[in-house]
Amino acid sequence: MVSNRLPVDRTTDDDGGHGWRRSPGGLVTALAPVMAGHDGAWVGWHGAPDETLEPFDNENMHLVPVPLSSDEVELYYEGFSNASLWPLYHDVIAPPEFHRTWWDAYHQVNMRFAEAVATAASEGATVWVQDYQLQLVPRYLRQLRPDLMIGFFNHIPFPPPEIFAQLPWRQSILEGLLGADLIGFQRPNDTSNFLRCSRRFLGATVKARHVNLESPGESQPRASRAEPFPISIDVGRIQELAVRPDVIARAKQIREDLGNPKTILLGVDRLDYTKGIPHRLKAYGELLHDGLIKVEDASLIQVASPSRERVESYRLLREEVDGMVGRINGQYDTMQNTAIRYLHHSYPVEEMVALYLAADVMLVTALRDGMNLVAKEYVAARVNNTGALVLSEFTGAADQLKAALLVNPHDIDGLKETITKAIGLRPAEASRRMRAMRRQVLDHDVQRWSRDFLSTLAGMAAERSHGRDAEQPSGL
Ligand code: G6P
Repeated sequence: MVSNRLPVDRTTDDDGGHGWRRSPGGLVTALAPVMAGHDGAWVGWHGAPDETLEPFDNENMHLVPVPLSSDEVELYYEGFSNASLWPLYHDVIAPPEFHRTWWDAYHQVNMRFAEAVATAASEGATVWVQDYQLQLVPRYLRQLRPDLMIGFFNHIPFPPPEIFAQLPWRQSILEGLLGADLIGFQRPNDTSNFLRCSRRFLGATVKARHVNLESPGESQPRASRAEPFPISIDVGRIQELAVRPDVIARAKQIREDLGNPKTILLGVDRLDYTKGIPHRLKAYGELLHDGLIKVEDASLIQVASPSRERVESYRLLREEVDGMVGRINGQYDTMQNTAIRYLHHSYPVEEMVALYLAADVMLVTALRDGMNLVAKEYVAARVNNTGALVLSEFTGAADQLKAALLVNPHDIDGLKETITKAIGLRPAEASRRMRAMRRQVLDHDVQRWSRDFLSTLAGMAAERSHGRDAEQPSGL
């Protein structure tokens, strides 16, 4: 496995010693058993700049840290990954910036990751590279180690050619990805955008979901496949927490702390401009202004976890959201009631599930989102089929959760109507919708996602070796 961040967080114990704890999150839950079963290694940055660490083991996983200098964090991570690629791939909601120094750092760091993998991987191993920070790794790795089977999964959207065209290094990025045998995307749309870009900017031959790329010096064109594999969550873990007595008691406590309002609404996001938090707050503020929501009857809990705080557009967003919440609360709060309980923190998964249980209405209003796992977690936590999910049609999750109350978050009137509908949803309709969504999520957990991807890749490896055997003259 290769990802920008290693799946561990540093811990400090009482006597000041350091250790590591596995990070929360579906990806590592799904892959830890696969890795342990195959003697696998996970290659990634350990999160601290200017520090070189030796490989180490943690909870049955072998971890290979890739060092990054402070300059590289600024140019490769904050710069090219999160101020060029991230906005470009999310419908240019914020204007992407392109700087040659950022690009130089991006390909140097990608090369370092590829070298670390080339050293760690055994003969004929399967390598799975994750996400937009590492799009050049498949090609570099293929050059260093042609014996490997290489998969890549893009967790964020892939833009259409009309937008991707802006990227000065568009060909190198596509060639980088096409170093992989299998390239996975969240939605069928992302997959077709990638295929259209490969045809338009590289002149690659695209048939169905197969791409053939001629490369100078190679007799055979390189063959890759692009497919959608919508990611999911660790459903078992969320459901287990949702029925635990202490988590249920905590949910009750949260409602009491808010003064037992009739309705609790909830938003949970990284504080990112793709999540449509200002749109949600604008709609909520107007509903209070119109008298359609009363502060005595309803409270909105907005969890906004800190993210990429040194990137300018994230700083600006924080100012905007802080200001909006302050204005709305200043106007509508009473001594007893608050309009919006705004929490700029991250919480452990137990607290998140308690929040999901406490919330009658979940608001997911992203302007663009590769998937949105919060929507799936809310559904998984609602074990008694109650609650309403308001879901942006611009999320990958909307492809699967068709029984949600779908919205266009740019349409503030439509958003207000949908929030009002969600608050007043009759129990029978709420239950019908929730059952349909739960069936989908329970059937497609993150374990199934990783199995599907890896078995497709294994199938391709088997075809390839069969092809090679068939090329051998018989009797040899
Ligand atoms: C998104 C990306 C991930 C990234 C995460 C958190 O989900 O797809 O690759 O790790 O955001 O962002 P951060 O920049 O803190 O890693």
